[in-house]
Amino acid sequence: MGRYLLGILALLKNCIYSDVVNFDGDIKDFVVGNSTLFVLTDHRLHQMRHDLYEEKTKDITNAIHHNRVNILVPFEANGTLITCGTFEGYCEVLDINNITNSIYYESYILVGPRQNEKSVAFIAGRYLLVGKKDDDETAQGNRYSVVSLWNTLESQPGRIFSKLAEVSDASIQSTVRDVVFVDGFQRVSPSESYLFLNTKTDNERKVLVLRMNSAKEKKMDIIKSLQSATIQCCSDKVRPVLVACTVIPSVNGVIWAAGVFSAENQQDPENSAALYDISNVQGRVKGFCAYGENPCGSESGSELQPLSVVFKYSSMSAVAAVRIGSWIVLFIGTSDGQLIKLVLDEKFTPGCPTVLYKSDDERAVLPRMHFDPVDYKHIYIALRQQLRRVSVVQCGNYSTLKDCRAAQDPLCCWCVNTHRCSTQDECSDTS
Ligand SMILES: *[C@@H]1O[C@H](CO)[C@@H](O)[C@H](O)[C@H]1NC(C)=O
Ligand SMILES: *[C@@H]1O[C@H](CO)[C@@H](O)[C@H](O)[C@H]1NC(C)=O
Ligand SMILES: *[C@@H]1O[C@H](CO)[C@@H](O)[C@H](O)[C@H]1NC(C)=O
Ligand SMILES: *[C@@H]1O[C@H](CO)[C@@H](O)[C@H](O)[C@H]1NC(C)=O
Repeated sequence: MGRYLLGILALLKNCIYSDVVNFDGDIKDFVVGNSTLFVLTDHRLHQMRHDLYEEKTKDITNAIHHNRVNILVPFEANGTLITCGTFEGYCEVLDINNITNSIYYESYILVGPRQNEKSVAFIAGRYLLVGKKDDDETAQGNRYSVVSLWNTLESQPGRIFSKLAEVSDASIQSTVRDVVFVDGFQRVSPSESYLFLNTKTDNERKVLVLRMNSAKEKKMDIIKSLQSATIQCCSDKVRPVLVACTVIPSVNGVIWAAGVFSAENQQDPENSAALYDISNVQGRVKGFCAYGENPCGSESGSELQPLSVVFKYSSMSAVAAVRIGSWIVLFIGTSDGQLIKLVLDEKFTPGCPTVLYKSDDERAVLPRMHFDPVDYKHIYIALRQQLRRVSVVQCGNYSTLKDCRAAQDPLCCWCVNTHRCSTQDECSDTS
């Protein structure tokens, strides 16, 4: 496989068109809203159109006050962008169409991580869900708060951001100190939240998935709806660390996830990409529970085994996926700057991996990649100071019916009207 990929690399290097923007600092995070992209660097927040035209910028730190933004969440239903940072611990609500317009500012709250740790934040129902390692060194009765639900709309005069429920904190607690949140997703219908994290104790490393029903109105009811499971990878070799993941919504209430797993072992640098059915995350994993629950979790949580291990490669660091009929297309970013496309048929059999992009100087692809939400024909990837918009389809490259079919790319079809290999909507546009 490796040698084969190198071959493609040599062939494709530098020959694929993509849009690109260079910033004056490393990209820390970026999110995609309905019509806008928000890119966070050390010093600035940038508001860009989907075609990467920059509309606005906002300074987030200056020479006097150091500040690091650690929460960046579009709240489309409210027309706002929620940002939180470390300078005195604050959150600021910005106009989603004009980030220089600050709608609300609140100080002395710490919503995101204090240290430079990984965290996950998104809108779950009416609340802002934040998953992070507890900043308090001292556990309350050996428990750490790892997931909290914050208000997003005014709850008491003059205050918005609060994690209090009726009587206590609305949080998920853990008896495990060492947790690293990898990613999280909100599914719209039914309204459910999924969180993926790594845990580490003296003798064991585990990957967990947490699921909550975010349709519930009360925070505590969302917290109490917690279900959890362990994710195993893989049968050939144990790779107990999740590097990146994504969810793949499917039909009939089924939901799949794709994850990239590592052994974090120099002797075994190869990572595995595997698919899971996460539709039935049931029970509780020991050590994770709703606030105040006793005992904290039980061993009733299920263990999810992969549906299939679809790809092995040494430097995978990011994954995104789309589903087209019964096919899945995975996009895999690597720590040496490649974006690889892998088509899986209904039996999860991978086709030939193709390299959509390769950076000249082997910059790592940021673990979070996003599709253009309008047509899913482009994917955004961040490589240190650079943001790229890469086309995910190259149907035009197949000039005959035979080549178009042989490409086995579910994103392309042979258009009878034009006698060209094109995407479905390009074809219907001309009919
Ligand atoms: C944003 O897009 C989502 C999904 O397409 C849609 O449900 C929502 O109404 C949109 N919100 C706004 C404010 O346009
Ligand atoms: C959006 O949020 C602001 C401030 O949090 C609030 O005052 C406003 O009512 C919200 N608007 C909508 C449409 O929910
Ligand atoms: C954006 O917001 C700023 C600050 O409120 C305001 O001065 C400016 O006119 C706004 N720009 C647009 C295009 O609405
Ligand atoms: C696909 O087409 C583009 C634009 O015509 C070209 O630059 C690129 O090299 C082609 N890719 C492959 C895989 O042939």
